[in-house]
Amino acid sequence: MLPIRRLAPLVFALALGACATPEAVPPVGKGPTAMVAAANPMAVDAGVKVLQAGGSAADAAVAVQAVLGLVEPQSSGLGGGAFMTYYDAATRAVTAYNGREMAPAGATPEMFLDAAGKPLPRRDAILSGRSTGAPGAIAMLAMVQHDHGKLAWKDLFGDAERLAGDGFPVPQRMAGAAANPRVYQAATPDALAYLAKPDGTKVQAGDIVKNPAYADSVRRIAAEGPDGLLKGPLAEAIVAKVHAEPLPGTLTMQDLAAYRPQASPALCRPYRIYVVCVPPPPSGGSAVLEGLGLLEHTDIAAHGPGDPQGWYLFSQASRLMYADRDLYVGDPDFAQVPTEGMLDRTYLAERAKLIGPVAGPAPAAGAPKGAPKRAPDATVEPGGTSHFVIVDKAGDVVSMTTTVEAPFGSGRMAGGFFLNNQLTDFSFTPRKAGGALAANAVEPRKRPRSSMAPAIVLDRKGRFVAALGSPGGPAIIAYNLKALVGVLDWKLPIQEAVALPNMIAIGNFYAAESEKFEPAVVEGLAAKGVKLVPAQGAEGSGLHGVAATPQGLQGAVDPRREGAAKGF
Ligand code: DON
Repeated sequence: MLPIRRLAPLVFALALGACATPEAVPPVGKGPTAMVAAANPMAVDAGVKVLQAGGSAADAAVAVQAVLGLVEPQSSGLGGGAFMTYYDAATRAVTAYNGREMAPAGATPEMFLDAAGKPLPRRDAILSGRSTGAPGAIAMLAMVQHDHGKLAWKDLFGDAERLAGDGFPVPQRMAGAAANPRVYQAATPDALAYLAKPDGTKVQAGDIVKNPAYADSVRRIAAEGPDGLLKGPLAEAIVAKVHAEPLPGTLTMQDLAAYRPQASPALCRPYRIYVVCVPPPPSGGSAVLEGLGLLEHTDIAAHGPGDPQGWYLFSQASRLMYADRDLYVGDPDFAQVPTEGMLDRTYLAERAKLIGPVAGPAPAAGAPKGAPKRAPDATVEPGGTSHFVIVDKAGDVVSMTTTVEAPFGSGRMAGGFFLNNQLTDFSFTPRKAGGALAANAVEPRKRPRSSMAPAIVLDRKGRFVAALGSPGGPAIIAYNLKALVGVLDWKLPIQEAVALPNMIAIGNFYAAESEKFEPAVVEGLAAKGVKLVPAQGAEGSGLHGVAATPQGLQGAVDPRREGAAKGF
């Protein structure tokens, strides 16, 4: 048995210097004081209903996830995992919840290598039974709801059950993913049985689809809690799917029953007049904090989004941050992760000096205190994820990123939902010949590294300022960093910050929505050695957020997706 961390939430101590700091934002005034921002309006409505019935943000999160799993099956669901950052307005404590999938006891560092020791083709690995970890989203939500819920758990699944049983209009993005020839998970026998019509064509946006198996699953989970998923007939159905050919996995009933979510104090660091909180590793949150910690040593606030220098600083901090996280971050229950070292102010001040007047070659990882010797990372992360933010009338805040990993996960279904392929988030190559293990190598009962980084920003008095997050695989860290810089440095309304063009700077590669940048910015960047490469992946953000303003809460939805933000 692994040690299970279940720490009482601690109030984040603001030991941040004695000088009087300006207040970040006035307290919320007129306008909405409760809000749900999520990637699909049906999920938003389910969350708003729960809040209006007197439920807390934790209660609404359960309802939102239950509907998202139905109407965004390509992104998240009952078979997936999640990270959540939770702000308790009464105590001003920020807690991180870890619902990351866990590798089975039978997993090995070599399980994604073929007989000749070469990494399996990604497609084969994703569609295999080996890619599925014990799902954690529902168990994590049950823990959060136990800690912060006001309504009965069993009453939070009504919308999901009704939409699954009576039918729901297929959203554009679900139809798009189902019809996308590059989404090979949508062509598996299970996916075709669900997503194809009798004539063989895929479901279209607006078609009414029923999913009675999903209705049964949520009924069971509503009645039994996470045991309804991790034990009994649903667990048996999951295990049977994982053990099916090709490339069966080892997941057992014991692995499912042994799954435990984790709670810990969030990882919080000051950023200028704010405090930014994220989950600790294996989440991508520490990388977002490192990016901010590097930018704190620059004058990015003086160079707004129309100024190439602002984006230049952003790009250089990004690649320094990615170099460290790629080498060092893995599951801290297994790998020594130098989180404190990477966020140490002296380390960051030194590392920020590597940001010169023009972009040099790709930066190497630094040597933060506590850094072990590491094999180079060989993790590849593609796409299928969702982010939502909920603020309730008491001022409690949920910021949750939730995922089945790739679109439609492994393409295998049980109980009306897709199984995750989260274990392909491990590094396929565990070590160099005879060398040290990669931080993110597969190990039994280990959780794969994630880029998901649900953030909550407070002022120095511990009052809520903003919450946001995004899907996007490794680009999540860049998307979140961009939106945080937009709100905190460039003082943009959160909607504008979310809509800013995306740029993902890793190594020598500057992927970007280049056509969205002003030509002067593109040219100015090129003159500094930053050549933007138009990249489809750069459009993969799904940023959703909420910010406190003098006019009340303001929601933000990524214009690249089909989400909504509703407040009251
Ligand atoms: O945890 C992670 O970092 C990935 N499994 C997330 C994948 C993702 O965001 C895909 N998004 N579109």
